[in-house]
Amino acid sequence: MESEEDDMDCAPVVPNIKRDAPNILITGTPGVGKSTLCKKVAETTGMNWLEISKIAKENNCLEEYDEVYQCPVLDEDKLMDGLEETMCQGGNIVDYHSCEFFPERWFDVVFVLRTDNTTLYDRLIKRGYAGKKLEDNVDCEIFQVVLDEAKNSYKENLIHELSSVTPENLEQNLEKIYLWIQHWFENNQT
Ligand SMILES: Nc1ncnc2c1ncn2[C@@H]1O[C@H](COP(=O)(O)OP(=O)(O)OP(=O)(O)O)[C@@H](O)[C@H]1O
Ligand SMILES: [Mg+2]
Repeated sequence: MESEEDDMDCAPVVPNIKRDAPNILITGTPGVGKSTLCKKVAETTGMNWLEISKIAKENNCLEEYDEVYQCPVLDEDKLMDGLEETMCQGGNIVDYHSCEFFPERWFDVVFVLRTDNTTLYDRLIKRGYAGKKLEDNVDCEIFQVVLDEAKNSYKENLIHELSSVTPENLEQNLEKIYLWIQHWFENNQT
């Protein structure tokens, strides 16, 4: 998506058209390793990495700051409108810590990254998270909030949990995603 404001106003294009390339959603608790994975997939495959937090900021899609959760609140409608055309084209890898507000039809597969609690805690401490924000994010992983959100929002057969604790996991996850992409193209030849 371009960052000009005009692009945020583009009307939705025809929904459910067959895509030339798949759209992949990478989701999971903050700090679980989504951006690390997406960056590598994008570099290797040429897919378009959509880091939603960054895009929302660049396109003025942040409504307010949530003092309790210490994070910005998204203007979801504006963001969705702005992404519609890009998503209809396919070939996107979407990176965000929530997944319930995206249109279900956007995605061909959903990968939910998971860590153990100690790993996540250490990563978030390193990032400078503390207090309630740290606690909430670790709880989010413990109670598998994002996985349940994905299960409530997408067909179960599209959802894959990936362990994202070690560098070896990263390599394994990349392999799985490359294989999945390869199969998608084999099954969706025009
Ligand atoms: N498989 C892995 N093994 C070891 N360290 C990892 C792995 N994946 C990510 N990390 C490390 O964990 C930290 C968080 O990773 P990253 O920024 O990719 O998380 P994120 O899910 O994108 O977080 P956010 O939702 O806040 O954007 C980084 O320091 C990264 O180097
Ligand atoms: Mg990230």
